[in-house]
Amino acid sequence: MSGAIKPKLPFLHFSFRKKDINEQTPSHQLKRALSAVSLVSIGIGAIIGAGLFSLTGIAAAENAGPAITLSYLLGAIACVFVGLCYSEMASMIPFSGSAYTYSYVTMGELVAWIVGWDLILEYGVASATVAVSWSQYVAKILDSWGIHLSPRFLSTPFETVTLSDGSQVQAFFNLPAVFIICAISLLLIKGITDSARINNIIVGIKIAVIVAVIGFGIPYIETANYQPFIPPNTGVYGHYGWSGVITGAGTVFFAYIGFDAVSTAAQEAKKPARDIPIGILGSLAICSLAYITFSIVLTGMVRYSDMVGDASPVITAINKTPYLWLKNLIGFGIICGFTSVILVMLLGQSRILFSMSRDGLLPKLFSTTHQKWQTPWYTQILLMICVSIIAAVSPIQKLAHMTSIGTLFAFTIVSIGVIILRVVEPHKTRKFRIPGGFTIPILGILTCGMMMLSLDSMTWLRLILWLTIGIIIYFCYGRYNSKLQKK
Ligand code: ALA
Repeated sequence: MSGAIKPKLPFLHFSFRKKDINEQTPSHQLKRALSAVSLVSIGIGAIIGAGLFSLTGIAAAENAGPAITLSYLLGAIACVFVGLCYSEMASMIPFSGSAYTYSYVTMGELVAWIVGWDLILEYGVASATVAVSWSQYVAKILDSWGIHLSPRFLSTPFETVTLSDGSQVQAFFNLPAVFIICAISLLLIKGITDSARINNIIVGIKIAVIVAVIGFGIPYIETANYQPFIPPNTGVYGHYGWSGVITGAGTVFFAYIGFDAVSTAAQEAKKPARDIPIGILGSLAICSLAYITFSIVLTGMVRYSDMVGDASPVITAINKTPYLWLKNLIGFGIICGFTSVILVMLLGQSRILFSMSRDGLLPKLFSTTHQKWQTPWYTQILLMICVSIIAAVSPIQKLAHMTSIGTLFAFTIVSIGVIILRVVEPHKTRKFRIPGGFTIPILGILTCGMMMLSLDSMTWLRLILWLTIGIIIYFCYGRYNSKLQKK
């Protein structure tokens, strides 16, 4: 154990024990099957989803107008700061576990546990949120084919729905959302190679949808729709003007979430130190470019004020062209896009639990892999049950902001970690080193901190509650069973 802080606080000294950065974790349990291309694909798979296809129109209509493009640019800049920090960390600490592992090495066990616990929430809520969007799109497409799912199976038991005879009843639960979570979990149990291959195909389809919207849409851009580019502020903070651009950036930040999932697969990468930075920065670059171009085309085709509350702006845009046959194809592509987000989120979540269990902070069951498939199957089944329940019955729209706060929290810790490692391990080899000293990590901390502060108090309260539960579990179990404790 290197760099352990001497127990100035005798009662809490165990909380500061750190993992040795030079200690190689045995890699035989998970299969090293992922190439650089697969890692970029995992990144894109996690990033492009409900954020782009559902939030762009709403944020343009309600916050930024055509300047939603600037909001995407701002989001990209913030994510690049953090993406660079993740890359430097990953090139030094190529074990699976993402921000959790990085915190363990830099800030000690308690912070690591808190970050890991936070990430479990982030990935769980994100996959449930996207599964609910998935079910809404599927229901729409089935409707257009004349197959009508009962609204009782498309909402939560806390919602009232209107049946075809006009009667108002309580819904049961969101059946398609449960279906997709179970299907993907079973795929993940079957094995990472298959999952990565299917993810590659889905990512191809997703990129094709974006290229199709851009390609078919450009001739139908009306330049008048870009006027005014930044609509004047209405007097309400966040409602147009520059404050609208910033609020828009906070909203579409959800669209960028996911690149950190690449680092959770480090232990399954063939050459983690080289390929994880490629995966993170490559997927971020491709997605940023796609988002910015997509938003320029979309707001050129549809006037921003016509997209109020429009969760499927792509379909609205296609309606402006003569290519109505594209609608079903694009709808299908979008559903595939959502599917890969759910896949990567569930994958990332199980790998974090895997790492925490391997470190002794959770029972061994969570890192037990299947003999044949070499995947942490107990964990995957447990997550399947929990995430299905969240998607089926919880008021997910209210919880969705927790994904952002959880992610921003982890991003901040990773940026701080880069600074700490530069100080305590200045000579350790970094296959990837951020230029410019501490500037980028500090900018990462500031941008993430600002976005966290812009989130509402209920979201903060929920985060604090979740973390408190985590801390109690750590003090009751993790601190006694930690591998470092046994050492
Ligand atoms: N970035 C992911 C999405 O937009 C979470 O769906």
